[in-house]
Amino acid sequence: MSEKKLVLLLENVDGGYGDSQILTDINMEVHQGEIVVIIGPNGAGKSTAMKSVFGLLNLTKGKVVLNGKDITNMPPEKVVHEGVCYVPQTANIFPSLTVQENLEMGAFIRNDDFKPRMQEIFELFPPLYEKRAQPAGTLSGGQRQMVAMGKALMLEPQILLLDEPTAGLSPLYQSEIFEIVKQVHAHGTPILMVEQNAKQALAIADRGYVLVDGKNKYHDTGAALLADPEVGEMFLGGGKAATISKRKPATANAKTKTTPKSKSKTTSKANSKSGIKKPLPKKVKDPSLKKKSTTTKKSGA
Ligand SMILES: Nc1ncnc2c1ncn2[C@@H]1O[C@H](COP(=O)(O)OP(=O)(O)OP(=O)(O)O)[C@@H](O)[C@H]1O
Ligand SMILES: [Mg+2]
Repeated sequence: MSEKKLVLLLENVDGGYGDSQILTDINMEVHQGEIVVIIGPNGAGKSTAMKSVFGLLNLTKGKVVLNGKDITNMPPEKVVHEGVCYVPQTANIFPSLTVQENLEMGAFIRNDDFKPRMQEIFELFPPLYEKRAQPAGTLSGGQRQMVAMGKALMLEPQILLLDEPTAGLSPLYQSEIFEIVKQVHAHGTPILMVEQNAKQALAIADRGYVLVDGKNKYHDTGAALLADPEVGEMFLGGGKAATISKRKPATANAKTKTTPKSKSKTTSKANSKSGIKKPLPKKVKDPSLKKKSTTTKKSGA
């Protein structure tokens, strides 16, 4: 099976805050064309894992590689230039600025003409065009998430990191956000997303990672994780996981897993069978920008 290009790799990453180690031997991969989801209980280290990619914490072991380049412990302002855009769970827009001004802020490190890109963003999120002159803080929760994602996408990132984009939203808006994530992905941007709505997230994911206590617990295709009784029991609201497994088959490098619906009861980080065979990802961090627009994904069109 031809493997898609590896965009982001976290390999054997240890890291935390100050003297407090949160992540232990974390491994993750995101390939071109993938939506990869991180789920797990509160405090498991999901956000911390994302921050590790964005240079927001100190990594004491392992490495983070973006498109073949080692960005371990690279500061956020540089990570952005490398093509990583991070949409944090909260405070991810400027509420008092208009929608258009938010998008312009997202492009602040670009020194080229970003108008065409803004047009693409408006085409991707029509409600934002309609409300482009309104303060972003006056929009609905779902539309504010559009602004947050649109702001990040202004830099045409190599990869988009989303931390719980549906948090605090009604079920209706949550579904809307997942549709938006699919749209963004369809336009060519690989996505690494932390989600508390594990079922819906895994349903649109090519692959998923379950973190527990700062460690890889399971790793498999989204379909396999949904169908896994153990995962369902622990993270999907009761073993009915199998009933939801209708989501999309793991596309991309599903090589990892295989048995689409069977149970991959992998156990912690070791679970080679369902996934975690290879270690990888690592840190992340904050907001939006990056400059290299051009190359990677250019969606729009
Ligand atoms: N800035 C920080 N300084 C010190 N400890 C932190 C910091 N942020 C998070 N932690 C701790 O790191 C651990 C992992 O937190 P993290 O936010 O990564 O978990 P999470 O899986 O994202 O949880 P949630 O589902 O609640 O968002 C927790 O014990 C948390 O208290
Ligand atoms: Mg979190």
